[in-house]
Amino acid sequence: MSPFLLTRTLPLDATDAALRADVLHGLTQQPKTLPPKWFYDARGSELFEEITRLPEYYPTRAEREILIDRAAEIAAASGARTLVELGSGSSEKTRHLLDALTDLHSYVPVDVSESALRGAADALLKERPELSVHALIADFTADLSLPDTPGPRLVAFLGGTIGNLLPAERAGFLSSVRSMLSPGDTLLLGTDLVKDEKVLVAAYDDAAGVTAAFNRNVLSVVDRELGADFAPDDFEHVARWNPRQEWIEMRLRARRALTVKIPELDLLVPFEDGEEMRTEVSAKFRKDGVRGELAAAGLRLSQWWTDSAGRFALSLATVD
Ligand code: AVJ
Repeated sequence: MSPFLLTRTLPLDATDAALRADVLHGLTQQPKTLPPKWFYDARGSELFEEITRLPEYYPTRAEREILIDRAAEIAAASGARTLVELGSGSSEKTRHLLDALTDLHSYVPVDVSESALRGAADALLKERPELSVHALIADFTADLSLPDTPGPRLVAFLGGTIGNLLPAERAGFLSSVRSMLSPGDTLLLGTDLVKDEKVLVAAYDDAAGVTAAFNRNVLSVVDRELGADFAPDDFEHVARWNPRQEWIEMRLRARRALTVKIPELDLLVPFEDGEEMRTEVSAKFRKDGVRGELAAAGLRLSQWWTDSAGRFALSLATVD
């Protein structure tokens, strides 16, 4: 029997405290914002899985193509004995990587969801019973202390989720990743790429309305967790390309003037008719930009792979 260890670095009430702080801060500033991490309750995670299967949402398929084509190269370049996966979720795409990493000793999935971690570890240990799995319940944007497992380490941050961080947050995140790495360790980073505006907007405003439901779901989360009375149908889904920042912005636009009560925060939040609240940025990247952001954090871009259509990239970075 190989060990399965689960470490909680996040206090049980941390999520609740962080949600309160984010909602209080975001809904009392102008323009209003809500951070995208609150999309992912059980319903939101289901809707996201549905998004990944939409004809318009190419990033998941594009990244999977690269992982399948390049897994052997990534494995050889990293020589990893420990794979750390940040925001591991269901670990579905990582399977290709895990299969190629023949010298792997330990897998360290990191996620805020204990149920996702347990499910992924169970499935994996059935196939690779010799692996040691040390799951971390943690917020990957906070400083992580990793378990003491054999090097070299490969830290994977896939899905283009780095694009959901604002530039200053990205810089902080990459520096904290750098501080987890020793010489010989590597970072594998997934980034969606700048492309035709129509393709980008369609990926975030699909015909079936799944992304709209995903966007509005954040209001149901605030209703349930903080006793708020958002009526999600009072808000319209908006996806817009910001050409200056090169990111997609998702917003929720009030269909009429209304006031939302949030009893748990003792807060009344007025919305004007047509007022838009930002719920997500999803930044799109270029190779030079990725290289520069990595370099600023003390990381060196060593390999860059894209899917055959050039829509999405995986970067491998080493410690400088
Ligand atoms: C996979 C979390 C990066 O930004 O594309 C999908 C989330 N938002 N549709 C992305 C998302 C709207 C997604 N991430």
